Amino acid sequence: MFRPRIVDALQPLVRVRPTTLPLTTIISRRPLTTSLRLLNEADKSRPQASHPTKHESRPVSSGKPVAEHVKEDESKRSGLPEEPASGPPPPPLAALTAPQLFSLEGRTIVVSGGGRGLGLTVTHALLESGASVACLDVLPEPSQPQWDKALQLAESKALSLSYTKLDVTNQDQVSTVFSTLFKDAESDRPIRGLFTSAGIQVMMPAVDYSIEKFRKVLDVNITGTFLCAQAFAREWFKLHPEPGPEEGQAGIGGASIVMTGSMSGRVANLGIECAPYNASKAGVNQLAKNLALEWSRKGIRVNSLSPGYIRTALTAAQLDEKPELNQIWLQGSLLGRLSTPDEFRGPVVYLLSDASSFMTGADLLVDGGHCAT
Ligand SMILES: NC(=O)c1ccc[n+]([C@@H]2O[C@H](COP(=O)([O-])OP(=O)(O)OC[C@H]3O[C@@H](n4cnc5c(N)ncnc54)[C@H](O)[C@@H]3O)[C@@H](O)[C@H]2O)c1
Repeated sequence: MFRPRIVDALQPLVRVRPTTLPLTTIISRRPLTTSLRLLNEADKSRPQASHPTKHESRPVSSGKPVAEHVKEDESKRSGLPEEPASGPPPPPLAALTAPQLFSLEGRTIVVSGGGRGLGLTVTHALLESGASVACLDVLPEPSQPQWDKALQLAESKALSLSYTKLDVTNQDQVSTVFSTLFKDAESDRPIRGLFTSAGIQVMMPAVDYSIEKFRKVLDVNITGTFLCAQAFAREWFKLHPEPGPEEGQAGIGGASIVMTGSMSGRVANLGIECAPYNASKAGVNQLAKNLALEWSRKGIRVNSLSPGYIRTALTAAQLDEKPELNQIWLQGSLLGRLSTPDEFRGPVVYLLSDASSFMTGADLLVDGGHCAT
C-alpha cells in the first residue's frame, strides 16, 4: 500500500504487526570434528581423516592428485537444481533464477541518511528492486526533486516510502523509531534490511581538532551506525527469537545489514586532513565484522561497503574548500575519475539481497581501484 508521509521521530505511528518470516527456530549443531585413526598397512604411516557423515576414512595426505578429491566432492555437491529428490532438501535459493536472487520484493529496507546523497540514490534502487523503504535522516525534509521522484516510483509500484526525521546519535529516538517501524511494517513486506548511510566529514589538521569536533565525527559515523544496527537487531530478535535458522540455512531468508564505511578506512587520503573521519570508517568496517560474528547464525548477515570518492554534497563541500583536490583524487583513481552515487546501487542491492547469502563479516571495496596502488 502506498503511504507517502513525513513523520517526526517521536510522533507515534499507526501500529500494524508484521507477519513473522518462516524461519525455523530449531537448530541442531553437529560437531565438525575430524577423526584420526589408522586404516591399513599401507597407510599406517599417515594420519587418517573422515567427515563424520560423508566420507570413508582416508589418509589426510593421500598422495592422490587434488583433482581426484575435487571430482569426488563435485558428485556430492548439494543445492543445485539437478539434486535428486532423495536426501536432504536443497536450499530454497537454488530454485531461484539469477535475477530473482537480486530481487528485494516482499521486504522493507530501512535507510539511515536517506534524506539525500548516497542514501537517497540507493533508496530509488531499492524501490526499483521491489522493496518498500523507510528513510531516516536528521534533515527536516528530504532533498528535492529526488524525494518526489522516489515517491512517484513508490506509487507506481504500489510500494511504501516513508521519511522520519531522526538523529542517529540519540539512542532513545533510534530505539523508538525502529520499534515503531518494525511494528508498522506492511504484513507482506516485513523489515529485512538496513542500509546505514548517515555520516559526516570534517576536514581539519589533527592538531586543530577540538575534542567536541573529534567526538562528533565518531559519534555520527560509528556510534550512530552502531545504534541503528543494535535497534534493528533488538527488534529482529523479538520477532525471531534464538536459536536461529535451521542448520545449513544461516544467511538464507533472514536479514541483511549493510554499513557504509569508506576506502578511507583503509588508507590516508592524499590532499585532505581528516584523521577522525578515517578512524571512524575503519571502525565501521571492524564493527561490521564483530556484529557479523554475533548475529550471522541468528539470522542477520552484516557487511560493510567501502566506497571511493563519490560526487555528492559531502565531497562538493570539500572541493569548494580546496579545488586542487579534484586533480589529486583523479590521479589516485585507476579509472581516472570520481564515482557517482548511482554506481553503488548494484553493490548495495547485492549485499541486501539473497544474491549475497554466503557473505557476512566482509567489506566490499568499490573504489575505482584507488586502494590497488
Ligand atoms: N561522498 C564520498 O566521497 C564518500 C566516500 C566514501 C564513503 N562515503 C560515505 O557515504 C555516506 C553517505 O555520504 P554522502 O556522500 O551521500 O554524504 P551526504 O552528506 O550527502 O549524506 C549523508 C547524510 O547523512 C545525514 N546525517 C548526518 N548526520 C546525521 C545524524 N546525526 N543523524 C541522521 N542523519 C545524519 C545527512 O543529513 C545526509 O543526508 C557517508 O557515510 C559517507 O561517509 C562518502
